Amino acid sequence: MYRYDEFDAAIVADRISEFRDQVNRRLSGELDEEAFRPLRLMNGVYLQLHAYMLRVCIPYGEINATQLRRLGAIAQRYDRGYGHFTTRQNIQFNWVALSDIPAVLEELAEVGMHAIQTSGNCIRNTTTDPLAGVAADEVEDPRPWAELIRQWSTFHPEFTFLPRKFKVAITGASHDRAAIRFHDIGLELAPIGGGEIGFKVFVGGGMGRTPRLGRLLRDDLPKQHLLSYIEAILRVYNRQGQRENKYKARIKILVDSLGVEAFRAEVDAEWEAMGRATIDVPEAEIARIQSYFVPQDSAPEDGGLAASRAITKRRASDPAFAGWLDANVHAHKVAGHAGVTISLKPAGGIPGDATTAQLETIADLAERYSKGLLRVTHEQNLLLPHVRQEDLPALWAALVAAGLETANVGRIGDIISCPGLDYCSLATARSIPIAQALSARFADPARLRDIGPITLNISGCINACGHHHAGNIGILGLEKTGNEAYQLVLGGAADETAAIARITGQGFSADAIVGAVETVVDTYIGLRQDGETFIETFRRVGVTPFKEALYGSVAA
Ligand code: HEM
Ligand code: SF4
Repeated sequence: MYRYDEFDAAIVADRISEFRDQVNRRLSGELDEEAFRPLRLMNGVYLQLHAYMLRVCIPYGEINATQLRRLGAIAQRYDRGYGHFTTRQNIQFNWVALSDIPAVLEELAEVGMHAIQTSGNCIRNTTTDPLAGVAADEVEDPRPWAELIRQWSTFHPEFTFLPRKFKVAITGASHDRAAIRFHDIGLELAPIGGGEIGFKVFVGGGMGRTPRLGRLLRDDLPKQHLLSYIEAILRVYNRQGQRENKYKARIKILVDSLGVEAFRAEVDAEWEAMGRATIDVPEAEIARIQSYFVPQDSAPEDGGLAASRAITKRRASDPAFAGWLDANVHAHKVAGHAGVTISLKPAGGIPGDATTAQLETIADLAERYSKGLLRVTHEQNLLLPHVRQEDLPALWAALVAAGLETANVGRIGDIISCPGLDYCSLATARSIPIAQALSARFADPARLRDIGPITLNISGCINACGHHHAGNIGILGLEKTGNEAYQLVLGGAADETAAIARITGQGFSADAIVGAVETVVDTYIGLRQDGETFIETFRRVGVTPFKEALYGSVAA
């Protein structure tokens, strides 16, 4: 894990005292909400439907047990005893009183955390693969590059007031677990020829009302030029992005309007002209950052054989353990180890919520079984990256005791959902109760296993915070003539086969949407061949059989 230095600490301390003053002026009425808005947005504070909300940054989703425990204590003391993990690997507190926020920021700073650049039109937290550094299929650890981007983008004077918010994601594996094609800039570490690893750079991906897949800008960027190249992209965007229209201000619209060829030419011209040497950092600095991310795990003497034999035996005799292994336990780079996702999606629960007691238990488990380290995943779960396979049975038992053993990672109950009308002032429909009804309907472990890998995402309005465009099954909540209506979209994907889901037809009522999803799933089960996943079947047969099942043959 990266260790922040005295510069980071000083920056955060200054920011807190500045914000404390701004909060005091708001509370005394000296500042009205309009004047306060840009100030709070620089500090992760949103105004939701019922209260202010604080979004806390978890750089590239990496967090330690001490920090997690502190988040639990903050939830207990200042909120209602829980926090909500987000798709961009951060955490939100929904009920903090404005007057308490400076104190919360001080408590966060004590454990090296803050809320800077988690809102507003700036470069947000760079996200990455939750298995970064340990994934068996990894080409290179992306975290040092994410950290480099963090240092470069924090308070970057030129990019503090961009036309709109700006999100970067980076993966070091060819299987994309970071949704890079749905980001303003998506980066993939990959072979670029001559035995060298470099970056594939995608630009202009996004959700919202105009969903776009990131377009390939180049597939051969030498690593040492990462910062100057993305600075060139940001400069072109900062100059040409449509500031005057909020709905057209994202970089995806600029790339649309120029076309990717012309956009690339603009970026290249800027890149040539800019004096890269002053922006790209020397190799020694990159090596310094990389040295903080040293491998944590060493293989057991027998290469993990004993553990894997014991687990195979247990798997055969214990279907619940087997289901958990299949869904929640991931291949690891180092023999004898595994990555383990702790699902925050119990049947009928609120996706991504964790209570203080759960955060404390998970922090204890991380200390005991994962070198005190954890990750927040894009799917709003927590992940232990350094578990020895011989510890899997004990970890499983501890999770069962804490009620945290839900074995649905990557299954239909692992729903991504935005806060929707329960919290959000922009919402047109509720999303959380729909997610709860769906995960309760699909709770049976045998059924989850039978349905297999599938993604189900729900947004409470067209802004698409719940990534419905990228779900194999997506649900968009819309208000229709005073009643909530839910539109069903199919065929989206957020991984390396990224795709935008297609609308099936007329929306469904809140009561009917769960049944409609069930119809889609049953249709897939009837059509699948030879172990095909949902998305593979969908791609083979197209949307028509699903439409027929949902609406009858007339609508097909
Ligand atoms: C506090 C309530 C929230 C408000 C008011 C809010 C507001 C918005 C708005 C206005 C957009 C559209 C922006 C644009 O296209 O330029 C948006 C998009 C988005 N929000 Fe939120 N949001 C909220 C909560 C969340 C949560 C909990 C998440 C989960 C991490 C989230 C993640 C996203 C994502 C991923 C997008 C899509 C960005 C894109 O177009 O690529 N938001 N949000
Ligand atoms: S998708 Fe809409 S309802 Fe959901 S959090 Fe975003 S803005 Fe709010």
